[in-house]
Amino acid sequence: GGGTARLYEPMNRHTTFLIGGPAQYWVEPRSVEGFAEVVRYLRSHTVPIRVIGRGSNLLVRDGGIRGAVIHPAKGEFEDVRVEGETLVVGVGARLKKIASSARNAGLGGFEWMEGVPGNLGGAIRMNAGAMGTETFDQIVSIRFIDTDGQIQEKPLAEIEHHYRNVPEFEERYIVSAVLKGTPAPQDEIDIKLAASHQKRRTSQPVGASAGCAFKNPEVCGAGKLIDELGLKGRSVGKAIVSDIHGNFIVNSGGATAREVLDLVAEIQEIAQRERGVQLEMEVKV
Ligand code: EPU
Repeated sequence: GGGTARLYEPMNRHTTFLIGGPAQYWVEPRSVEGFAEVVRYLRSHTVPIRVIGRGSNLLVRDGGIRGAVIHPAKGEFEDVRVEGETLVVGVGARLKKIASSARNAGLGGFEWMEGVPGNLGGAIRMNAGAMGTETFDQIVSIRFIDTDGQIQEKPLAEIEHHYRNVPEFEERYIVSAVLKGTPAPQDEIDIKLAASHQKRRTSQPVGASAGCAFKNPEVCGAGKLIDELGLKGRSVGKAIVSDIHGNFIVNSGGATAREVLDLVAEIQEIAQRERGVQLEMEVKV
């Protein structure tokens, strides 16, 4: 389908953590049909499949990835189209671009996306959110490649989703979605966009990371908890707990996945021992 493929592609080039060994096969389809064709081919040869978009919530191990990594982030996957009060968005569109397209169309509700690094696919896959909104608040329907390699579509009501967890798309691959907005004056949208941008700039680190490392437990924010436990600045090798936000682990330059995972385990152990809180990773390994 007009795409490209490479062997042994280093994943540190494709993750915001700048960490990760090589993927055996790296495939960049350019069209939905090309994507489906690749899935059917790989399935028929029992090659394991992973899909990576912006790689912003991901820790790839140092040994890399066995099998194929599909990267649907170019060509028609980047499209954002306005249709009335909805946006029809390709899986590879950046959240930032969705926020600005909605703004230009006078549609509110997407402002939170301004402060989140990632593509639509990743946001749906994990029901990402910020500033009190999550992706599924705005989903109308999702198009995906089903386990048989055929393209299907489901409305919101038929898609199981939870806080930072969407089991539906583990073996089904999102290709696009319809998202709903609310008409709003552009200056009102601009104020919220600025707040979103400001929030990220002032309360989150700029260094290489995968966003929040842990899900917020029910009792309190993970960042606040890690901060209270005095763990900011704690490090294993080049992996360090951010001084700005306790729930961010930053790669201060050449950190390995092993170092990140060891730091994660230390934090989990201390939170369990000191507070009886079980911290669950939000970043996908
Ligand atoms: N806080 C501290 N110390 C810290 C971090 C936070 O005291 O080191 C306090 C803050 O001052 C604030 C409270 O904890 O009073 C909550 O912090 P924040 O507003 O940053 O929100 P959060 O619950 O820590 C969540 C999301 C973020 C998202 C922000 C902003 C999760 C796990 N995290 O963080 O999402 O950007 O809200 O809306 O749900 C991500 O998912 O990767 C992510 C970064």
